Amino acid sequence: MILKNLKLMNFRNYKGLFLEFNEKINLIIGKNGQGKTNLVESIYMLSIGKSFRTNKDKELIKFGENNLYIDARIYRDDETKEIEVLIDNKNKGIKVNKISIIKISELLGNFNVVVFSPEDLKLVKDGPKERRSFIDKEISQLIPKYYNNLQRYRKTLFQRNKLLKNFSIDINLLEVYDEELAKYGSYIYITRRDFVKKLSDISKKFHKELTGNKEELSLIYKTQIDLNDSDDYNSVYQKLKSKLFESREHDIYNKITRYGIHKDDIEIYIDDIDVRLYGSQGQQRTASISLKLSEIELIKNEVGEYPVLILDDVFSELDEYRQKLLVEKLNDIQIFITTADISHKAIFRDVEATVFNVKEGMIDKIENGGR
Ligand SMILES: Nc1ncnc2c1ncn2[C@@H]1O[C@H](COP(=O)(O)OP(=O)(O)OP(=O)(O)O)[C@@H](O)[C@H]1O
Ligand SMILES: [Mg+2]
Repeated sequence: MILKNLKLMNFRNYKGLFLEFNEKINLIIGKNGQGKTNLVESIYMLSIGKSFRTNKDKELIKFGENNLYIDARIYRDDETKEIEVLIDNKNKGIKVNKISIIKISELLGNFNVVVFSPEDLKLVKDGPKERRSFIDKEISQLIPKYYNNLQRYRKTLFQRNKLLKNFSIDINLLEVYDEELAKYGSYIYITRRDFVKKLSDISKKFHKELTGNKEELSLIYKTQIDLNDSDDYNSVYQKLKSKLFESREHDIYNKITRYGIHKDDIEIYIDDIDVRLYGSQGQQRTASISLKLSEIELIKNEVGEYPVLILDDVFSELDEYRQKLLVEKLNDIQIFITTADISHKAIFRDVEATVFNVKEGMIDKIENGGR
């Protein structure tokens, strides 16, 4: 996948902007607070219709303005697609090839983007919530149905928890919610379990490379309910339902839903050691890089084309060996690299790269600026 060009109007600190990109490396250089992340944020918006920094669309509109507009051309499967996003104080409209979409799930899968930012280096060290959110975002990009099920699960969970807080509880309604949580939950469980399995196989390979064959990485999808790889949709559904039933009294007493896929996690092992708990900081960071890189490969396997990769400020967090390895490994992919460090240009001396100098929401472009 290639982002050919991008037009921004009133997006963050950009008043008006039109850029054509390099099919390989786009180096976005500028001092702090000039608009580097803003630019890549707008690119990410095209993939899932949402920012990776905020859930509040309004924050994306330039201060003092009423609406923003993004227009991009994407090249994939030998054809060009246009994606437009328009956000005003009340609404968000998205078009693919001039046709308005009604649900976000219709946008997903048109343009795949992987963002790697310094927070991702904490993926392994972070809590289960961050790891769940990592896999949820990834799977949603690949399987719109997953996104829909997840939305429904979240809504039902919210309603169930609300019901549990009532003084007197309508058991029939609780029954309905349990049924729905088991239905959506079993789909989510099976999809996550399969995804983590694939991710585990690919990340093992990357991790070997990153550690010079020294470490064996593996991932296991972990749920508190007694489920295993041989459970199919129906048996997961039954088990989830009986677990919710079993825990009903506890849930009513504590006013919260104790069991379900909203509590799950990914266990990450290096050799036989749980890295989340016992890994060194370096091991945790390297394992996080392996996971992120695997995502790229996984998308390639699933959709047949590499996604676009955004490296927002991560370059300075990596040592020289890993910087070089990353650039070498990723030579088939369109990459957007933001950095405040001009010396990073040297890494791209021998490759074709376009440099974009960002200053106060304005951008100068220098072809082959890395040389
Ligand atoms: N809605 C908005 N309207 C106008 N300007 C905004 C808006 N939101 C953020 N900004 C401005 O954008 C700038 C931050 O841009 P950005 O996060 O892209 O910086 P950056 O170049 O990535 O910096 P760093 O190197 O520190 O990460 C800030 O100056 C901020 O005031
Ligand atoms: Mg930034």
